[in-house]
Amino acid sequence: MDILEIIEKKEKNEKLSKEELEFTIKGFLDGTIKDYQMSAFLTEIDLLGLTEEETINLTNIMLNSGDKIKLDIKPLADKHSTGGVGDKTTLIVAPLVASLGVNVAKMSGRGLGHTGGTIDKLESIKGFKTEMTLSEFENQVKKIGIALVGQMGNLVPADKKIYALRDVTGTVDSIPLIASSVMSKKLASGADTIVLDLKVGKGALVENLEEAKELGNLMVKIGNMNGKNTACLLSNMDQPLGYAVGNSLEVIESIETLKGNGPEDLNELVIRLSSLMVCLSKNIKLEEATKKVKENLYNGKGYEKFKQWIEAQGGDLNTLKVASKTQDILADKDGYISKIDALKIGKLARALGAGRLTKEDKINHEVGIILNKKVGDKVNKGEKLLTVYYENKQVSEEEILNCYEITEKYTKKPNIIIEMIK
Ligand code: URA
Repeated sequence: MDILEIIEKKEKNEKLSKEELEFTIKGFLDGTIKDYQMSAFLTEIDLLGLTEEETINLTNIMLNSGDKIKLDIKPLADKHSTGGVGDKTTLIVAPLVASLGVNVAKMSGRGLGHTGGTIDKLESIKGFKTEMTLSEFENQVKKIGIALVGQMGNLVPADKKIYALRDVTGTVDSIPLIASSVMSKKLASGADTIVLDLKVGKGALVENLEEAKELGNLMVKIGNMNGKNTACLLSNMDQPLGYAVGNSLEVIESIETLKGNGPEDLNELVIRLSSLMVCLSKNIKLEEATKKVKENLYNGKGYEKFKQWIEAQGGDLNTLKVASKTQDILADKDGYISKIDALKIGKLARALGAGRLTKEDKINHEVGIILNKKVGDKVNKGEKLLTVYYENKQVSEEEILNCYEITEKYTKKPNIIIEMIK
């Protein structure tokens, strides 16, 4: 077997055997298959796809490329978002379900590109520790039902190496490559319930609804086949989620949501994600789980769990700060907001310093954007569209106004949840 033969076979769109996929992944990890050969292979997959069987095999090969976490804790649930703008759901969902006895032992990533990362958001809280040993991690979950760290152990090294290459070869949006990347990591992290938040729209990895459905169904199938209770929500990412974009601004919005004052779209999404995690983990009806989740969102128990969690990991919520310089951007005409380009807003927040272009970039946790209007809202000329929180870097008013479309005709508020796959 050699890699040239395998690339050529894929080029002819012939089915690859488990052994050929294994040979490719192992060879890439040990360096015998070079970056340029793997790039050609990934590009062929991006262009031609993989069959369901090939994707399932690829997921298992990636899963077996490194350590797997096994915790003696039940029920244990995990969630995964494919990344969006203003997506702070983990900060709310994790303590909310933990307050209902569903344990969360979660690993999260940093932001890259126009999307944010949970670890960056949590680091806006001074003292918050994002690294732990496995036994510290396990003990904390046993004690308070929740722990969240950055990367730990040598989980799915194949994904780390492949993802870095996909990032620079334009192959991040391939359905089988996303499915195998996400599911190998979720399966390695040891939870018995997996809830996926698959973002669809302008600011998401997947823009097309049909492709999103295909990906969602595939990931749920892979999860269930591996004995995990798996569900997937397709959620709208045409406009930012909630009003806040930027690290500390998003933590503050999460706290407000946990106090029962969240924006409508964010509220709805966290309730649905949490309810799915509770329903699948406790094997109860979705309606019953939803009732419990709403109770703990509005009676303060979710917020109490959030404070306990942040304190357990050394964070001091009194240190949360936002940038002192602000600029209001005003509407240049009367009408209804018909579009807010999530991708452009994400890129502007990054330009302010809230995100990074390369892994080495330093971010400013205090800068970002607070929207004042969302799609479907009426706006008068001169009324505030949003506020920019900035420090050393600023973006132009014109660039911000370019993110908005204001029309005379009323546009309906989009539904945040598009579909549930269970
Ligand atoms: N998130 C992942 O972890 N992997 C992908 O391929 C895409 C989104």
